[in-house]
Amino acid sequence: MADFKELVFSGVQPTGNLHLGNYLGAIRRFVQLQESRDCIYCVVDLHAITATLHQPDLRAQTREVTAAFLAAGIDPKRHIVFNQSQVPQHAELAWIFNCVARIGWLNRMTQFKEKAGKDRENASVGLYDYPCLMASDILVYRATHVPVGEDQKQHLELTRDIAQKFNNDFAAEIAERGFGDAFFPLTEPLIGGPAARVMSLRDGTKKMSKSDASDNSRINLTDDAEAIAQKIRKAKTDAEPLPSEEAGLAKRPEAENLVGIYAGLADTARADVLAEFGNAQFSRFKSALVDLAVAKLGPIGQEMSRLMADPGHIDAVLGDGAERAGAIAERTMAEVKDVVGLIRR
Ligand code: TRP
Repeated sequence: MADFKELVFSGVQPTGNLHLGNYLGAIRRFVQLQESRDCIYCVVDLHAITATLHQPDLRAQTREVTAAFLAAGIDPKRHIVFNQSQVPQHAELAWIFNCVARIGWLNRMTQFKEKAGKDRENASVGLYDYPCLMASDILVYRATHVPVGEDQKQHLELTRDIAQKFNNDFAAEIAERGFGDAFFPLTEPLIGGPAARVMSLRDGTKKMSKSDASDNSRINLTDDAEAIAQKIRKAKTDAEPLPSEEAGLAKRPEAENLVGIYAGLADTARADVLAEFGNAQFSRFKSALVDLAVAKLGPIGQEMSRLMADPGHIDAVLGDGAERAGAIAERTMAEVKDVVGLIRR
């Protein structure tokens, strides 16, 4: 397999109301990865319109995710931050991938089945085709690593299947044009971390979600110190003190969630948290968690609000990112056209 330069790519949908789950599960890992690798972080606005096209707040939501990236510490000068729709090659390469991917492959996607629900006939074609666009996001930059949640693993497998089939189907043209034995890399997911999955504060068996009817179920990134403290104090727990070892968290989803959140925010292992708080009552653990959460999230929320008050600045950052991303994507797309046999300008 040809050598590909290490490059991290990930995308976040601008669906509004970013919360602690988005931060610990994705954005915080993006910040860590930028220390050791080249990274491209994309606000995937074209994905956000697959379930519902008409979204009155789309622009504001795209800026909110961008503000969260910047407030959390992603450096848009050393790396690339942009919104997907500004780089038309994402959609263009997705068309080629539509012709690579098989209907059978897409029919196996569990996320489509979940999102389409019972009325599958009435789901948009875009929702069905979402994984091909996602493969295009990644492969138009030949990204080698993608930090994502567990729920995106299947889409990454599909991305590899598309890359492999393209590499095979065009093996002769790819070699002939000097790309060696592979045109696209087989991209690996980066999954994990102490709080990869953050659960609802009201029910430890449900994911923390922007669409939960109870605002107390989640900590929004723009919540102030007072709101953060209240929600943690009200968070559901059980009657036992904390265990001193991880095995003791089994069948205690609320305890497990709060310990995971603490570990994520403190950037330590759950075992270390339990070594410190084993046998403590929840009241003591919760006040420590309030202090930690306010210390870590307070400044991010404040910086987000400051940034969102200046949409012109955010748009300038996105424009600059789109220009730099576009230069790479344009080159890849030209190469794809040559390999496939599409005459270009
Ligand atoms: N499907 C991802 C999600 O919902 C978002 C996404 C779109 C993405 N394109 C991507 C993630 C490319 C990683 C890489 O979380």
